[in-house]
Amino acid sequence: MEKKDKILSVRGLDITFRTTAGPVHAIRGVDLDLYRGETVAVVGESGSGKSVTMRAAMGILASNATVNGGTIQFSYRHADGSPETVDILKKDKKWIRRHINGKRMAMIFQDPMTSLDPTMTIGKQIVEGMIWHYKTPKNEAYQRALELLREVGITDAEKRMKNYPHQLSGGMRQRVVIATALACDPDLLICDEPTTALDVTIQAKILELIRRIQKERGISVIYITHDLGVVAKVADYIEVMYAGKIVEKGTANEIFYDPRHPYTWGLLSAMPDLDTSDERLYTIPGSPPNLLHEKPGDAFAARNPYALKIDDRLTPPMFRITDTHYAATWLLDSRAPKVEMPVELRARIDRMKKEAGQVDTGK
Ligand SMILES: Nc1ncnc2c1ncn2[C@@H]1O[C@H](COP(=O)(O)OP(=O)(O)O)[C@@H](O)[C@H]1O
Ligand SMILES: [Mg+2]
Repeated sequence: MEKKDKILSVRGLDITFRTTAGPVHAIRGVDLDLYRGETVAVVGESGSGKSVTMRAAMGILASNATVNGGTIQFSYRHADGSPETVDILKKDKKWIRRHINGKRMAMIFQDPMTSLDPTMTIGKQIVEGMIWHYKTPKNEAYQRALELLREVGITDAEKRMKNYPHQLSGGMRQRVVIATALACDPDLLICDEPTTALDVTIQAKILELIRRIQKERGISVIYITHDLGVVAKVADYIEVMYAGKIVEKGTANEIFYDPRHPYTWGLLSAMPDLDTSDERLYTIPGSPPNLLHEKPGDAFAARNPYALKIDDRLTPPMFRITDTHYAATWLLDSRAPKVEMPVELRARIDRMKKEAGQVDTGK
């Protein structure tokens, strides 16, 4: 059996925010693993806890956050090649900034302007990290920055180096952010809704770019998105998150072709589909629970047309479907009635499978 190199391992992560209205239990026991060179997508509606989980991994949680428990093990190699594993939650912010952030883990946000300084030229922003983390000589850093700009598909790189962020389009800015993120050769790239603010054609190009860079450099990538469609082509594994928990996880094929959790059924049904002539998009009825008032049982029960009585009392455990596929729904208990996914979704999946099959045989 091949031994894969684990880079990130989150166990039992539990986070509460102090607010004037009371404690908000935003992360309620998250487990997540990522291996070198692989891509994991964390998918779920807005407010499900995707960003908070990743901010915890980067050591950049808001000051009103309390970590109630859990570990975030990050593995990397020192310059001399010796391996190291640290629990990010046990390190202080200063240490993380010096040794991890921007150097071994880099994050790309939805709005490139959150990562870019409007008062600094593009060139200066790209070389900054190299100089700070590696003491790279200025002219060498400048040459690297030029190469990086070309690598992310920016033409006229010399001229662009002297530009300010506002002189670039949204898509170009996101490319600059990616170049900046790559400048220090990170092992892990966390992309938080990296294309949400961009139009569809640019979105596809940015995703393609991240995918290519990942393959070339062998880095690991985590995508955060509310839109499953975005990660269909790029994710190896998908984690579906709801109300601060992972409710289903599997390979991309398992999640797209054999989803088991009614929430995942909802997310898949809500994906825009080029084949359906119906313009009205399905939306999951209701809204996510208010985590200020936690209730016992399955947090999705109130919105779940297939909810069972037990859902009101007990939180479902993760049921194993395969070695890679798990879902937290009582429907998978051996005593549960047999429930099938909605027929429209079944039909849609069959269509997707057929299309994928046609592509494969066409090779
Ligand atoms: N600094 C904060 N103070 C209070 N609540 C917060 C804070 N940051 C995030 N939250 C809450 O935590 C939950 C998860 O947020 P987030 O991880 O940003 O969701 P997502 O990225 O999945 O849209 C939400 O209910 C959000 O309101
Ligand atoms: Mg978010």
